[in-house]
Amino acid sequence: MKNKKTYNRGYVILIATIAAFGGLLFGFDTGVISGALLLIKNDPELVLNGVTQLSERTQEWIVSITVLGAAVGALSSGRITDILGRKKVLIITAFIFAVGSVGLALASSVALLIIWRLIIGIAIGVASYTVPLYISELSPTHVRGALVSINQLAITVGIFASYLVDLGFANFEDGWRWMFLVGLIPSLILGIGMFFLPDSPRWLMTYKGEDKARKVLDKVGEANKEEVLQQIKANIKAENKEEGSLSILKAKWVRPALLIGIGIMLFQQFTGINTIIYYSPTIFEMAGFGADGANAVYDAILPALPIGLVNVLFTIVAIYLVDKWGRKPLLYLGLSGMIIALVALGIGFTFQNSLGDALKWISFVSMIIYIPFFAISLGPIAWLLISEVYPTKIRGLGMSLATMVNWVTNFIIANTFLSLGKITTGEMPNPAGEGTLVNPGGAFFIYAIIGVLGLLFVYSYIPETKGHSLEKIEEHFLNGKHPRDL
Ligand code: BGC
Repeated sequence: MKNKKTYNRGYVILIATIAAFGGLLFGFDTGVISGALLLIKNDPELVLNGVTQLSERTQEWIVSITVLGAAVGALSSGRITDILGRKKVLIITAFIFAVGSVGLALASSVALLIIWRLIIGIAIGVASYTVPLYISELSPTHVRGALVSINQLAITVGIFASYLVDLGFANFEDGWRWMFLVGLIPSLILGIGMFFLPDSPRWLMTYKGEDKARKVLDKVGEANKEEVLQQIKANIKAENKEEGSLSILKAKWVRPALLIGIGIMLFQQFTGINTIIYYSPTIFEMAGFGADGANAVYDAILPALPIGLVNVLFTIVAIYLVDKWGRKPLLYLGLSGMIIALVALGIGFTFQNSLGDALKWISFVSMIIYIPFFAISLGPIAWLLISEVYPTKIRGLGMSLATMVNWVTNFIIANTFLSLGKITTGEMPNPAGEGTLVNPGGAFFIYAIIGVLGLLFVYSYIPETKGHSLEKIEEHFLNGKHPRDL
């Protein structure tokens, strides 16, 4: 760890910040639907054939098709980023985000809305894989963790910004169109910004030769330039040997790492985070917020704001604590708090008839408790662990597999939340007076049970990676030792 301070700090932070606009768009475009949905479902231009509202199934598709697109995007990212380079891929992704934002804003039917949400989703999936990869490949070793974490922070900032935008346009005519259109601004910043940044040394070395790679390392001020160049060369050699053979996945020592990556993503999503991120205004509407009058949509979006803000703040706390307390204590603490909040939500909605107005506040308080516990644990740590546990040879493959599992499981939750509520707890009267709403009580109980299984998984399978070098972690797995014994 020599020459710790000699890297070009300003330039490196600029690179990470511009690339993190990809993370911000991931957050913005997944979060914006939460408020937009309340306007979309009642828009007379979209609701045809004399019905008063889009069906729950249609609403679920509008929300979740983006997530399905992201799974496809994540899966194909490994190859495209190798062929085109990280920089070009991020510029193209920014272009798709920009076109998608305009397309969504102009969509004149549910079908078009779903198609544009799918296209935006593909861009989100590509960004979710490429941004951390690009930042980590350009970061000097000793600041890599912090710089990569800027991406998770950007995701939460994007979600919070989307709630603010939703609130700002809640009372506008065609408000949902404006909400989507705002996504154009960060897309332009990402696209134009990336244009001026270099590609990563790792990619340049493979495809454009050593000189170009050396030049970029000079620019970022990598103090151990020659060492890094040698290491990149050695890794490329090792990887070439394995290229094209998936047989490595069968090797016994690879399995624990794969299980950890897939498992942690599964629990990150199946404990229900995105029911709250995507549907919180819908849940607040179910609980009775915005029940009366002209400001109904505004009143249902408003309580989502503190949720978005708490998410940002506690992600900062997590970045601070994760290397001090370690991963496992934060996961135990986070999951326990989440389970308690989920049980409270389940009880609240199940007994809504006898609770009346109190349900509003039970749902709000439970969610505001749930979010910080997620933000200090499964939020950042799931992404962190998948960048730590894979041996070099399978890092790309392992990361894209885990990223895809993240999006597929996210899709399952986003696509079933409203229906699941209907199956498990039935419908409940709409506090606004007309018709019925889904009762999500049962869904929350199911997420709580999965949370308990998550605790067992963390106890028995997650290694404590705090303070261990990647080489040490790799050696542990290569020796066939149990992950828990690290
Ligand atoms: C998850 C997203 C989630 C976000 C909330 C991320 O780590 O992967 O699915 O919406 O955190 O902050």
